[in-house]
Amino acid sequence: MSNPHPLSPHEAAQLLGWYAQMGVSEGLDEVAHDRFAASALPEPSRAEVVRPTAASDVAGRSLPAGREASSPRPSATPASSPRPAPATMVAPDIAAESARAAASAATTLNELKAALAAFEGCALKASAKNLVFADGNPAAKIMLIGEAPGADEDRLGLPFVGRSGQLLDRMLASIGLLRERDVYITNLLPWRPPGNRTPTPQEVAACMPFTQRHIALVNPDILLCIGAPSALALLGHTGILASRGKWSQFAVGERQIRAMAMLHPAYLLRQPLQKRLAWRDLQALRAAIDGGV
Ligand code: URA
Repeated sequence: MSNPHPLSPHEAAQLLGWYAQMGVSEGLDEVAHDRFAASALPEPSRAEVVRPTAASDVAGRSLPAGREASSPRPSATPASSPRPAPATMVAPDIAAESARAAASAATTLNELKAALAAFEGCALKASAKNLVFADGNPAAKIMLIGEAPGADEDRLGLPFVGRSGQLLDRMLASIGLLRERDVYITNLLPWRPPGNRTPTPQEVAACMPFTQRHIALVNPDILLCIGAPSALALLGHTGILASRGKWSQFAVGERQIRAMAMLHPAYLLRQPLQKRLAWRDLQALRAAIDGGV
């Protein structure tokens, strides 16, 4: 459909400049486009689907090697072959069934990771650079579940490695816990939502069988839900400020383990005064560990 109010080059440049100032660094749609298929279309249709895909961000600046806005991730399908069809083509009920079947068939964390990598029921996979599975010690008693990877996590394929992850490490260290030794860290979603938007309930639901299997395979004694989406999805808590720091029970198979919601470090970076609440929750965690959980 033609745009009734086309932008002049000057207006378009201003709009791109505004996007850049607002922190938009990549030109992505909700679902990735198959540019290779697009290039096979007749000319008139191509004009509709082809967008700037050169090595530049939305403001037209050159991107460093490896950060091309629409280039496939290094481990993705080589440029000469078409990308797989977008994951949205899988109907939600079929996706849910395939998630349940694939997750329950996994008997080890490696199998679960492979099952997630093969899962086509969450459209975020198509726009993410990497699957972000987990980090830390799989034998740890404490399992942390955040929301979803951000840009740094997406780039490196590990959870909580950006600014909020560094704060999380410092928070853990303040009560004597080390990421590599004492905790196991994952997210509700293994793929980055474009622009770091909050995951939709549908995306969380699509991946939930994997999250539940992940918890069952790690079999922790303490579950920490980091941030509101995790607290809602796993503990049913609405209102993180009211529910944080309160212990509840979480069923892992036949076992009931202790679970607590905590404020997300990204929120604490924006609201540093709330760190005092996080400190109380960390002390509650330390007391639970010292008391033998
Ligand atoms: N925020 C999250 O919830 N998870 C990450 O891995 C990074 C930021």
